[in-house]
Amino acid sequence: MLGLASRTDPLWARAALADEDALLRDHAHLERKAAGHMITLMGQLPSGGERLLPAAREELEHFERVCAILHRRGVELGPDPGNPYVQELARVANQGLLDRVLRMGLVEARSYEHFSLLAEVATGEVRDLFASLKDSEAGHHALFVTIAMDHFPRERVRQRWSELAEAEARIVAKLVWGPRVH
Ligand SMILES: [Fe+2]
Ligand SMILES: [Fe+2]
Repeated sequence: MLGLASRTDPLWARAALADEDALLRDHAHLERKAAGHMITLMGQLPSGGERLLPAAREELEHFERVCAILHRRGVELGPDPGNPYVQELARVANQGLLDRVLRMGLVEARSYEHFSLLAEVATGEVRDLFASLKDSEAGHHALFVTIAMDHFPRERVRQRWSELAEAEARIVAKLVWGPRVH
C-alpha cells in the first residue's frame, strides 16, 4: 500500500482504540508536527517549497479538528510525550534532504494505512474523523514523492525509498501496540 514494505495487522487498531482519548492526543500532536515539518521543509527546498503550503494548511485543519474533539470531551491536549515510531524513523532516515522528504512521505503512507484500519474498527465521531482524514494523508504521501522526484534523480529516489521503506517496516514490526496513531 502506497509503497510501504509491510501491512499492519488489523488487530492493531483495536489496541490503538482501547484508550480513545490518549489516541486522540497522540493524533493531535502528530498533525501539529506534520504541519510544522512541512513549514520547515518549505524553507529548505531549493525551489517550489510553496507547493507545500496547501498541505501544511490541511495538517493544521486536521490538528484543529482533533483539538475540537478533545475539547468537547474535556480532555487536555497536554505536552507532546513524543512518538517512538516517528523518533526511530528520524534516527534511521538521517542522510540529508532526500531522507527528510522520503521520511515524511513514509509517515504519510503509514498514516493512511493506519487511519484506514482505525476507520474500520472505530465508531461515532472517531470513525468519522479517521475516515475523513485518510485520503488527505494519501495525497500528502504523493506530494512528498513528487517533490523528491523533482529534486533528485528518479533512480536514486526509488532506491532510497525502498531502503527506507524496509527500515520503516522493521520499526513498525517492533513497536509495542498502544493508544497511538503509529
Ligand atoms: Fe493530517
Ligand atoms: Fe498528512
